[in-house]
Amino acid sequence: TVKALTPPDLVARKGKEKIACLTAYTTPMARLVDRHCDLILVGDSVGMVVHGLPNTLGVTMDMMMMHGKAVMRGAERTLVVVDMPFGSYEAAPVTAFENAARLMAETGCGAVKLEGGVEMAGTVEFLASRGIPVMAHIGLVPQRVQSFGGYKVQGRGAGREKIAADARAVADAGAFAVVLEKVIEPLARDITAEISVPTIGIGASPACDGQILVIDDILGVFTDFQPKFVRRYAQLGNDAEAAISAYAADVREGRFPAAEHCFVESRNKT
Ligand code: KIV
Ligand code: NA
Repeated sequence: TVKALTPPDLVARKGKEKIACLTAYTTPMARLVDRHCDLILVGDSVGMVVHGLPNTLGVTMDMMMMHGKAVMRGAERTLVVVDMPFGSYEAAPVTAFENAARLMAETGCGAVKLEGGVEMAGTVEFLASRGIPVMAHIGLVPQRVQSFGGYKVQGRGAGREKIAADARAVADAGAFAVVLEKVIEPLARDITAEISVPTIGIGASPACDGQILVIDDILGVFTDFQPKFVRRYAQLGNDAEAAISAYAADVREGRFPAAEHCFVESRNKT
């Protein structure tokens, strides 16, 4: 068996080697990502890209548990991090611990991620000091899209000091990494220089210690909208549609199934 990367392994890469991260939600995709990346996030983005929800607010513990287990079956060497869904961690550190412990114990993942900065630092500390590695997520935090009034760029003007304080607070609380989402480049650079754990950027410039994107975005599977920070490396949605349309046409025209797909009375006779 291959030894999986741990949070301390990734912390040790800061300033030395960039950290490549992607999301995954299923066993086959986890297998592919596992061969090339360092960290797989079972993101609550699964609600939008797999389950068709309008945002991440409707994602449940059951969904994260199921996709976490599926990803763990495909991952050997990457660190697998499971997102804590909206409502599972905000109310109190004890609730957060109970839900995070369930995610770790039942999926076998190596860490959890939660959204929030200064206001969540006490919870990060509570979990981290009790054996639950925590990846923090600050800047644009999609679970608060209603309060934010949209998916806006973070850190411009007066917002800058707030996000710097968030980064400091979660790092001091013991987070082993901090996701910076849609944060302006100079601020991402300053935070990366200031905190001692890796920053993982999504729309937060190459100044970060690592990068993460949603796998359905880079593969061109999820095409409802494309954030400016996404680079599309494939057009699998188009390929899938072409395949589906060719199949349907073959069925209708009688070209599928062909002789090689059919079963005969006995394998020993013609
Ligand atoms: O849910 C998600 O995919 C995330 C990201 C950081 C991409 O939280
Ligand atoms: Na998320």
